[in-house]
Amino acid sequence: MAVTARQATGSCRRRVQVDYISFRRVQARSLPLGTTVWWRYLEDNPVARAVVAREFDSVTTENDLKMEFVQPREGEFDFQAGDELVGFARRHGMEIRGHTLVWGQQLPRWLTEPRDPWSRDELISILTNHIRTVVGRYRGQIAEWDVVNEAIAEDGSYTRNFWLEGIGPEYIELAFRWAREADPTARLFYNDFGIEGANPRSDAVFDLAADLRRRGVPIDGVGSQRHSFLGDVTSEADVVASLRRFASLGLRVRITEMDVTIPPANVAPSSLRAQAKLYRETASACRRVRACTGFTVWGVSDPFSWRGAETTPLFLDASYLGKPAYYAVRETLPVQ
Ligand code: G3I
Repeated sequence: MAVTARQATGSCRRRVQVDYISFRRVQARSLPLGTTVWWRYLEDNPVARAVVAREFDSVTTENDLKMEFVQPREGEFDFQAGDELVGFARRHGMEIRGHTLVWGQQLPRWLTEPRDPWSRDELISILTNHIRTVVGRYRGQIAEWDVVNEAIAEDGSYTRNFWLEGIGPEYIELAFRWAREADPTARLFYNDFGIEGANPRSDAVFDLAADLRRRGVPIDGVGSQRHSFLGDVTSEADVVASLRRFASLGLRVRITEMDVTIPPANVAPSSLRAQAKLYRETASACRRVRACTGFTVWGVSDPFSWRGAETTPLFLDASYLGKPAYYAVRETLPVQ
């Protein structure tokens, strides 16, 4: 019998409680279940902090370690929020994913609007210093970094961004090499969206990763974001095939940024079930691929989502209660 949203929510309250008592990270989950956190959302919110500590095995830094926030002035680093978040995650025994060292967005204005144009050498020096300082700060604490984020466009060409224009495509391999030097123990990922199926961007990311591997550039994994929506036709088999293709290069893979928007006018039990199906299939795809090392939802609960609370894209609702998608993932990635 179909479960209504109300029933699902009602039963969730009890299930969350039981999970808390019996499962609380006593044993590892079959695959780490992660979330992303912007520290400003948690610092004054003890309930959200408790939910994160209770429900998740891993934390990705949502904004605090992006260049805009961590290097707000040239050569001056602000690690306050990053330190708080990393400290919180460590106290709760969570794995930490650092996000992100090199991206064309969320760059500080001193960098993008200089008085005089930067030379290529100056940009290389700025990027080296940034990566060495940020990765070095958390050496041995951040287990995995999204080193380069979203560098390939939908048509498979390089995304035209600040770093491509200032340095050229070599910025990608340089970033991986400097990150490895700064923390030889951290796993280094390339991260992108829209690569969970077969398409030109996915092909180009594959070619890029293959080329980096062939030339001995230190890349350890590919992160597949999966920002999804009702009506997304990419199937579980598609996701498995895509993850396996990246894994065939000897790389780890991971679902790094899962969410599924629902049109605000359309939040009905059937929509919640369709949302749950996309979550389940993606988690299941990850579980079926040996090299897939984790599944991360992009936000703690609906009000924290970058996609807008009204699109209810996450698996916990505004009261931190599990939606059908929560159970779908929990059933697919059980605690062992
Ligand atoms: O810039 C102002 C800042 O000065 C001010 O303090 C703040 C007050 O709320 O607003 C700031 O703008 C925010 C911006 O991040 C900071 O650069 C926006 O409100 C906020 O919506 C914005 O969104 C972030 C987004 O990246 C930026 O592109 C999201 O929180 C973050 O979840 C999102 O994450 C990205 C991943 O890094 C990469 N993959 C896609 C994903 C979703 O876009």
